[in-house]
Amino acid sequence: MPHAPMPRFPTGFRWGVSTSAYQIEGAAHTDGRGVSIWDTFARTPGRIADGSSGDVACDHYHRYAEDIALMAGLGITAYRFSVSWPRVLPTGAGTVNTSGLDFYERLVDAVLAHGIDPVATLFHWDLPQSLEDDGGWLNRDTAYRFAEYADLVAARLGDRVKMWITLNEPFIHMSLGHGMGVHAPGRALLFDAFPVAHHQLLAHGLAVAALRARSGSPVAIANNYSPVRRVGDDPADLAAAAAYEALHNRLFTDPLLGHGYPAELGFDDAVVRDGDLDVIAAPIDVLGVNYYNPTGVRAPEEGSPLPFELVPLDGYPRTAFDWPVAPDGLRDLLGWLRHRYGTDLPPVQITESGCAYDDQPDAQGRVHDPDRIVYLDGHLRAVHAAIADGVDVTGYFVWSLLDNWEWAEGFTKRFGLVHVDYPTGRRTPKSSYAWLRDVIATARRET
Ligand code: NOJ
Repeated sequence: MPHAPMPRFPTGFRWGVSTSAYQIEGAAHTDGRGVSIWDTFARTPGRIADGSSGDVACDHYHRYAEDIALMAGLGITAYRFSVSWPRVLPTGAGTVNTSGLDFYERLVDAVLAHGIDPVATLFHWDLPQSLEDDGGWLNRDTAYRFAEYADLVAARLGDRVKMWITLNEPFIHMSLGHGMGVHAPGRALLFDAFPVAHHQLLAHGLAVAALRARSGSPVAIANNYSPVRRVGDDPADLAAAAAYEALHNRLFTDPLLGHGYPAELGFDDAVVRDGDLDVIAAPIDVLGVNYYNPTGVRAPEEGSPLPFELVPLDGYPRTAFDWPVAPDGLRDLLGWLRHRYGTDLPPVQITESGCAYDDQPDAQGRVHDPDRIVYLDGHLRAVHAAIADGVDVTGYFVWSLLDNWEWAEGFTKRFGLVHVDYPTGRRTPKSSYAWLRDVIATARRET
């Protein structure tokens, strides 16, 4: 257990937790919600580790008041949730499901009533199935449908949501969903998935304009980053590390910050039309950084379809996902962003940081998760060090408030500060919850 006092964070630093709609809401067939690609994917045999789906998940749709009380008890100042596109537009466009908008209005008002800032993500991977049937993110039209959807949500909530996040981890949605086929919609296009990157970025840029027209709140995007740890010293290893860096860390951020696409990836950019890069580079107020771990990279074997090979990193403790626990990676990453983008880099918020462990109640029903405390302690100190290095980091959101439905892993990975008993849904705050509550209370008293 860490004992050293947490160093002091800047005044106004945002303390939050993050969740996403499909992972916690459940109520998949309630009040007119439409079908998303994750409903379809989860129903496809063999796709989800435990054969489960998000049909019920944490039943947050019905238990949101209890969950907001847990947030209030934690003392957070911001709550990042996502809006389910098919809950408000069942077929992705056209007919509006008012009950869906009503739900998010109830949620936002209840969050505000506890003095917590609602931060709304508009796309956390649950694309309406009807849009997928028309080509999904391979189809440029999806970008325009997204901007219409952003306009609709902002028209209802633009006066109360305190920060907008257009997309969550577009790199992961492209790579795991369309490159490798292990996430919905299950396409395995490898590098031919590039249009999915471009159309998501175009959607982001169009949505920025729509949100600005409806709301005075800051606009952000949440990207996933992974510092590259090169394994090997051959020129081929250097080239592989550079290629992976360009793919994972630059493909989305370079064009967002006005630097265009990394040319060395050699993507077929026939889908990029005149003017698109200007739309994509519309100024944002905050860059959301989701960080979990660094990635080991070396040169690929002969004949590999990829210009790199990903390898496990030795010498780190590991989470239940087998991800290395490397807080130094977060400090390095933040330094890399500042160095690479200089004055083009807006203020940063860590929009996700967290870990999965196999947390179970003891005989008294208490859930002890000391490894998560060590993890969060280390990553908060890394953020603090990055601030001292000169990076403007203005917030930190833990993934996640609750144990929830972890995509292809189903219910087998627990990321929560609060344990959820499936299927009863009973919530039990873990010891990390009490630890973070104390850290936040001290930080808020001091600033
Ligand atoms: C990032 C994703 O945004 C979130 O949905 C997921 O649960 C966490 N990573 C953990 O894998």
